[in-house]
Amino acid sequence: MKKILSVVGARPNFMKMAPIHKELLKYKKKVTHRIIHTGQHYDKKMSDVFFRELELPKPHIFLGVGSKSHTQQKAEIMTEFEKVVMKEKPDMVLVYGDVNSTTAAALVCAKTDYNGKTTIPLAHIESGLRSFDRMMPEEINRIVTDNLSNYHFITEKSGIKNLLKEGFSSKNMFMCGNTMIDSLKFYLKKINKSKILKSLSVSEKNFALITLHRPSNVDNLKNLKKIFGIFKGINKINPNIDLVFPIHPRTQKMIEKFGLEKSINEIQNLIITEPLGYLDFLKLTSSAKYILTDSGGIQEESTVLKIPCLTLRENTERPVTYEVGTNTICGLNEKLILSNIKKIESGKYKRGKIPEKWDGKSADRIVKILLKKI
Ligand code: UD1
Repeated sequence: MKKILSVVGARPNFMKMAPIHKELLKYKKKVTHRIIHTGQHYDKKMSDVFFRELELPKPHIFLGVGSKSHTQQKAEIMTEFEKVVMKEKPDMVLVYGDVNSTTAAALVCAKTDYNGKTTIPLAHIESGLRSFDRMMPEEINRIVTDNLSNYHFITEKSGIKNLLKEGFSSKNMFMCGNTMIDSLKFYLKKINKSKILKSLSVSEKNFALITLHRPSNVDNLKNLKKIFGIFKGINKINPNIDLVFPIHPRTQKMIEKFGLEKSINEIQNLIITEPLGYLDFLKLTSSAKYILTDSGGIQEESTVLKIPCLTLRENTERPVTYEVGTNTICGLNEKLILSNIKKIESGKYKRGKIPEKWDGKSADRIVKILLKKI
């Protein structure tokens, strides 16, 4: 019996891993799959709810690391995950995306010592993405993880181009699509159970959905104030549109730290909620008139749902979402954001198409390859 470990830790990891777990269960006579949760995200609303709604088992092993400085967090994950590796002796480790847990686990796999082996085969799911912005912690995580991985599972063509440019061998690159979209396609059927529109008193296509958590936006007083100014501008274009803003714990803490509670409360039609579970959030994404975000995954989900998405960042590591999909990279350029909102309001915004292989069958393609490699 072979053994594969998946390491996850932060919210977006969970929906990327869920379809792989379900697919591997089909081969349970050949391979055991164990889920290792680092504890990077630990609040019930950032973690447990996703395991429940994605119908995942409780993590087999929980490292309980929690929030720390990036260095401390990675160091603790490494120390704890090394113990797991020594005990579990996996044939392969899977890591997902670009969060600190991803890179910390990759570093352990690159240098370990059991059964005469010095490395553990490592597969990176969502490999090759690059924003070319090394101020983003995720960009460093992507570069390091890709350099330590044996197998690169790629979501969009830019990933292949980036890895080839960096000298990786095409032999170990597999463009299989996007497992986050597998989850979206599967769970979309279940969102009708969600009561979120009613509980927020909003109606289909009459609200904009907002998410913000990038340090460059929310840890910076000037930028956060600028964003609130943009929200006020939206009200002037259409005073009837609601702005739904599920708040990330990082953003909540920064608003409190900067003393901006009063100024956020003054924004007309702004509805603030706690972080939401997967199904409620998917219901909101698919029902929104448009989305303002600095998240990576939401650029992809809105592309598949064909909902206009304005990204409040200067760049994206997911260029297919604006080349093919419904995304526009706006930074914090108020004029650009508001002119795109006017286009959306008047029905003149681009419609977008679905990227290649974002069809809900990515985990099936990935697992078939993994089984040949273990
Ligand atoms: C992390 C990822 C980011 C991802 C995001 C999704 C890195 C470098 N960043 O960012 O790529 O897009 O998750 O949400 O890995 N906190 C809580 N409860 C929690 C988790 C965090 O209150 O369950 C608070 C803590 O104060 C913490 C802060 O949020 O310091 C930030 O958490 P952290 O995991 O460091 O980064 P995120 O901003 O969540």
